Amino acid sequence: MFEQKFPANRMRRMRKHQFTRDMMAENTLTAKDLIYPMFVVDGHQQRIPVPSMPGVERVSIDELIKEAKEIAALGIPAIALFPVTPLELKSDCASEAFNPDGLAQRAVKAIKESVADLAVITDVALDPFTSHGQDGLIDESGYVLNDETCEVLVKQALSHAEAGADIVAPSDMMDGRIGIIREALEQHQYIHTCIMAYSAKYASNYYGPFRDAVGSAGNIKGGNKHSYQMDPANSDEALREIGLDLQEGADMVMVKPGMPYLDIVRRCKDTYQVPTFAYQVSGEYAMHKAAFAQGWLNEEAVIMESLMAFKRAGANGILTYFAKQAAQILAK
Ligand code: PBG
Repeated sequence: MFEQKFPANRMRRMRKHQFTRDMMAENTLTAKDLIYPMFVVDGHQQRIPVPSMPGVERVSIDELIKEAKEIAALGIPAIALFPVTPLELKSDCASEAFNPDGLAQRAVKAIKESVADLAVITDVALDPFTSHGQDGLIDESGYVLNDETCEVLVKQALSHAEAGADIVAPSDMMDGRIGIIREALEQHQYIHTCIMAYSAKYASNYYGPFRDAVGSAGNIKGGNKHSYQMDPANSDEALREIGLDLQEGADMVMVKPGMPYLDIVRRCKDTYQVPTFAYQVSGEYAMHKAAFAQGWLNEEAVIMESLMAFKRAGANGILTYFAKQAAQILAK
């Protein structure tokens, strides 16, 4: 009988040299995989740090333009804009959300006028604009009303398209919103405006620093978003949500948060083979930054590893607050 004196398969042979490691790499990460989320405030020459997100600032439109030019020069294809709404403009009906002269709409116009080759993604959701911090209109009991909210989301999405947004991204998790937004875009001849649907958006506690950044943290009436965002226990349900958004006309779908939900990214890609994005959210950024600040993790290496994990899971692109830093590392 044949007696094996050596490993039949020397897996390490291909790991010995950089050239074989490069030749067998199954995934790559480039600046083109990244989308940079940015917070916008009113005013001039404003750069206001977000304490729970070291390195992230809320910037006024003039500064946003400068920053956007740098982002485009680094080869990042798109930014996602999040406006910070002052308290006096928030209301129960969230009418500031579709103000043609609102901060988000002005920011989109300014970037489209002055920065070539940078796509602009807008957030379609009412939470920055409601006095109660929920993503929709509420009834007396605080319950978020679905169909009434969808009507406002349509107005908001149209105002973004009108301002020149390349991609509108509904992040609200109301039922049926992709369908009526798509229909409204078609009716108004915005046939080229893409919809990136936050299809599998979980009721996550990793959004805390984002809510600090846009100032919606303290005031979420009811304390959570469990009646519309998904339960972290579920995964089949995510596939159903994604399927519905695709049927309703989404061009691409998103899973959010990112790293704790890479199983959902993989299932989505395997099931639907559609453009799939993932959001490495504010809390994921914050915990990385905290460990880097302590010297507990190697900053550059861990950033790149965390982003490669999204590619391996099947993501076509990653929304990440590390986008600029990662593109700078890649450019070295
Ligand atoms: C709001 C919205 C949220 C995020 C993106 N859009 C917060 C929420 O749903 O409460 C979170 C992003 C992040 O944490 O980085 N519709």
